Amino acid sequence: MRVIRFVLNGDPVETAAPAHWTLLELLRYGLKLTGSKQGCDKGDCGACTVLVGGKPILACLSLAARAEGQEITTIEGLMPLHKSRGGSGADPVQEAFDACGALQCGFCQPGMMLSTRALLNQHPQPSREQIQAALSGNLCRCTGYTQILQAVETAIAQSTGAPAPQPAWARDRELQGQEPQS
Ligand code: FES
Ligand code: FES
Repeated sequence: MRVIRFVLNGDPVETAAPAHWTLLELLRYGLKLTGSKQGCDKGDCGACTVLVGGKPILACLSLAARAEGQEITTIEGLMPLHKSRGGSGADPVQEAFDACGALQCGFCQPGMMLSTRALLNQHPQPSREQIQAALSGNLCRCTGYTQILQAVETAIAQSTGAPAPQPAWARDRELQGQEPQS
């Protein structure tokens, strides 16, 4: 066993883990934070994405010892950290994914939202290409990505005070010559 000390979602943590454990195993099985998902367990899907020092990493490919001395953010920490910075309610990224219906089964969402949060912290107004690049390691087998991209652009609009992008379903209705529903 190895003792590991780090800051998890704003709180100091001291825990022990077998030397061979990944960070994902430490989070899910050692600390019972099951928001980070164990999908492929080999670096393909991004469902295990967490932030280390604000940067997204794949927790299934990182040894738990990598957490030593680091600041780690998981999906469980997104709302509390937002509130600790003076925000109210959920992180705007979470609100936008909810408002846009950017999920079906939800398995990819923790990783998607953390990758989005990391992007927006670094680039508050990214281009569509930057969004696609930032989310290129996060696979979704359900949604087809349209609502996910719209959710990210909605979160950007909310942070800048710009109007939210038109929902994809409303654009489709317009193309079909139907009145958009309110
Ligand atoms: S579970 Fe880590 S990339 Fe799929
Ligand atoms: S919502 Fe099911 S995998 Fe993305």
